[in-house]
Amino acid sequence: MKIQPFKLERYFAAHEFSAPYLMCASNCESLSLSELLSLADEDSRNMWNDLKLGYTESQGHHVLREEISRLYKNIKPNEVLVLTPEEGIYIAMTTLLKKGDHVVVTYPGYQSLYEIANSLGCEVSKWTPKEQKGWAFDIDDLRALIRNKTRLIVVNFPHNPTGATISRADLKKITGIAERKGIVLFSDEMYRFLEYGEADRLPSASDLSATAVSLFGMSKSFSLAGLRIGWLTTKNSVMFKDFASTKDYTTICSSAPSEILAIMALRAKDRILKRNLDLIGKNLDLLNGFFSEYARLFEWHKPKAGPIGFPRLKSGLKTAAFCADVLKKKGVLLLPADQYGYEGNNFRVGFARRNMPEALEKLREYVRKFWDTTRN
Ligand SMILES: Cc1ncc(COP(=O)(O)O)c(C=O)c1O
Repeated sequence: MKIQPFKLERYFAAHEFSAPYLMCASNCESLSLSELLSLADEDSRNMWNDLKLGYTESQGHHVLREEISRLYKNIKPNEVLVLTPEEGIYIAMTTLLKKGDHVVVTYPGYQSLYEIANSLGCEVSKWTPKEQKGWAFDIDDLRALIRNKTRLIVVNFPHNPTGATISRADLKKITGIAERKGIVLFSDEMYRFLEYGEADRLPSASDLSATAVSLFGMSKSFSLAGLRIGWLTTKNSVMFKDFASTKDYTTICSSAPSEILAIMALRAKDRILKRNLDLIGKNLDLLNGFFSEYARLFEWHKPKAGPIGFPRLKSGLKTAAFCADVLKKKGVLLLPADQYGYEGNNFRVGFARRNMPEALEKLREYVRKFWDTTRN
């Protein structure tokens, strides 16, 4: 399979560790090892001290799978397959799809959610939200995209990059459509638990329907991207077995230390999520203030969940050039929409880092100058 470069990941590879201000990251401020260890209960600290660094259970440490299953209503530990989040997408797509299949996917989006299907020779239709309606995803638009040979519907809520989500009723409609038509639903739930209001939290698709497979992990909501721990959940035992056997050709099993650290974090879930939601709340207030101050320059629809949003630059300047100039002059990294292959003049902002207020000040300095020049 010949696969296109992952634009967003190449962009981050070029800038993430050199840009002074990362203002487009999609993960929350990372926890340090000592912070995480200080949150650990005695049992997991003992597991950490006694840990043997051999191979681990290929499905995932049984204690880890037990902790993971507590995040769900109906998912049992043996319906959890631990892997790296990105690996979960790769395994699911390569296992489920073949040339000629039709796939519907939320778009713009994380590239692997559609690029692997493209590379396999599938036809991909994009389910695009309406920016002018606050990035609303319309179920009738989704219905209209479905064909007889649709094999997979791929959704991602809370949504990267817009921060949009859908209602519970709409999620049920989607699982209903998938069930009636015999379509698998792949639900990327990487930003789950970062909804700003409890009412906006969706159930996991894998809890609702046996035709669904869900992806979640430690990278975003739990501030632990460096663990490289995620998981697929599904009540469909046939799909599950296929995914597990494909994993024998990717990583076989997860990193032993990461599994124990993930157990610690899941047991400290409420504290970690509160820390991140507090940070997001404070930073988002600042960002909302900035965008209302410069409403003539930017179109901004407030996200409903997660650490990212997708404003649009109203000026004639393309965001690729704008972001490159902001990086060059102020050291602030933003992510232009062309990295999503998206035609709108949008860019991604991230607001779950501690130094976001400083980064925003730098951006403000840039915009003040820019605004003065473009106004004249
Ligand atoms: C929607 C979505 N899915 C999956 C992933 C992959 O997660 P990870 O980088 O931890 O493998 C990301 C990462 O940005 C993402 O935004």
